[in-house]
Amino acid sequence: MGRIEDTSPGNVVDRIIHEVYTLCRENRAGELADYIPELAAVEPDEFSLCVATSDGYVYRAGNADTEFTIQSISKPLTYGLALADHGVDAVARKIDVEPSGEPFNEISLDPVTERPRNPMINAGAITSASLIQGADPAERFERLRRCYSLYAGRDLELNQDVYASESRTGHRNRAIGHMLRSFDIVSGDPDEAVDLYFRQCSINVTCRDLALMAATLANNGVNPLTRERALAPDLVERVLSVMTSCGMYDAAGDWITQVGLPAKSGVGGGVLAVLPGQIGIAVHSPRLDSHGNSVRGVQACRELSRTLELHFM
Ligand code: DON
Repeated sequence: MGRIEDTSPGNVVDRIIHEVYTLCRENRAGELADYIPELAAVEPDEFSLCVATSDGYVYRAGNADTEFTIQSISKPLTYGLALADHGVDAVARKIDVEPSGEPFNEISLDPVTERPRNPMINAGAITSASLIQGADPAERFERLRRCYSLYAGRDLELNQDVYASESRTGHRNRAIGHMLRSFDIVSGDPDEAVDLYFRQCSINVTCRDLALMAATLANNGVNPLTRERALAPDLVERVLSVMTSCGMYDAAGDWITQVGLPAKSGVGGGVLAVLPGQIGIAVHSPRLDSHGNSVRGVQACRELSRTLELHFM
């Protein structure tokens, strides 16, 4: 294996990644997300694949340094910070951990518990955002931005254009925020929680960043390159469990039978998957399927899981 930034062509992992990349590049199925205008303006054929090991080796195919917005891949990270801020039990009183079987933006709560069903759908994610501690909205966003940066191992920044576009058009998420407020799941200002959620979704990442975030989760919460801790090991376990059952929304069942790894997707076209203790996988390709998951992202993870025998469930 080659060390980071020095991967050896011809190495078996490197070869398989390039084979999977070549195979999936032919797939032009799917549509760009267009409900956020700025996301419809991206290059649809962009494609990169990156694998980072929990001991700090990185393999890539395609341009893994192109920036795009993290979108829903932010949800497990914010959930992790909410768990660190309040503890597992307090957060569990606000957000369940059950698969919803519903689209990510469903305006719904569990009818029995009257809580969002999990932190990966928008209702749960807006609740996680509402739980982030800080003196004011700016400090709360800065804590999130720093937290995500710890996972990536570099300083991440907000994409102002995507944030403005999402904020202009995010009526459905505002409706979810106000529903959460009316059930006292969000106890502060729901518009502030939704605004923080819009901002977290609009943080720019690269495919390499996502692979290192995944490798940090694979490495029990410690970034394999910087050696800095992003999340405590017991909380990593809970985050990965929820990614396993709920990370791919209403396609979670198909995903877990075909790929068998905890994962999270975003409408920016990113997919992040984790083999605990071993590797993080990231794909970026913006054409999405009907669930809002990257078509090539799902295909590439399926192929990598099959070829490298990563399916661990
Ligand atoms: O809530 C939204 O509309 C987006 N900012 C994030 C949604 C998302 O990424 C769904 N994932 N596939």
